[in-house]
Amino acid sequence: MAIRKIFQEDNEILFKRCREVSIFDEKLGELLDDMFETMLKADGVGLAGPQVGYLRRIAVIDCEGEKLELVNPQIIAADGEQIDEEGCLSVDSSKNCEVLRPYKVTVRAQDRKGERFEKTLTGLPARAVCHELDHLEGILFYTRKYEGKNK
Ligand code: NI
Repeated sequence: MAIRKIFQEDNEILFKRCREVSIFDEKLGELLDDMFETMLKADGVGLAGPQVGYLRRIAVIDCEGEKLELVNPQIIAADGEQIDEEGCLSVDSSKNCEVLRPYKVTVRAQDRKGERFEKTLTGLPARAVCHELDHLEGILFYTRKYEGKNK
């Protein structure tokens, strides 16, 4: 396993849409392991492919006991609302801001072997899934800054 470089938002890779993963080989497993290690070292709760230089639909999450590797993830159900401050390992913390997210999401994804699974999450892990899936579309959290309901 190895620590990968985390790209910052001055890199255009963070603004591109990622492609599906179609090959489930050893390299994919190594990359996911490295992403877990890199995220842990950086004290993050989630990390997406483009943040380590891969324009592929992959992300890892580890928060509140939910440790997930997500390959080709999709949110298939969302419910409720939560407003809380968000940040990102690719963005300076001075840009942290409140973001409105669903309170509960069900994500459908594959693991490193291509096995499909579904998982329902609430609270912070649900927020992390939404944040990481945004990365796969080239969207950074602060473009969703919550300005209040009256705006
Ligand atoms: Ni992020």
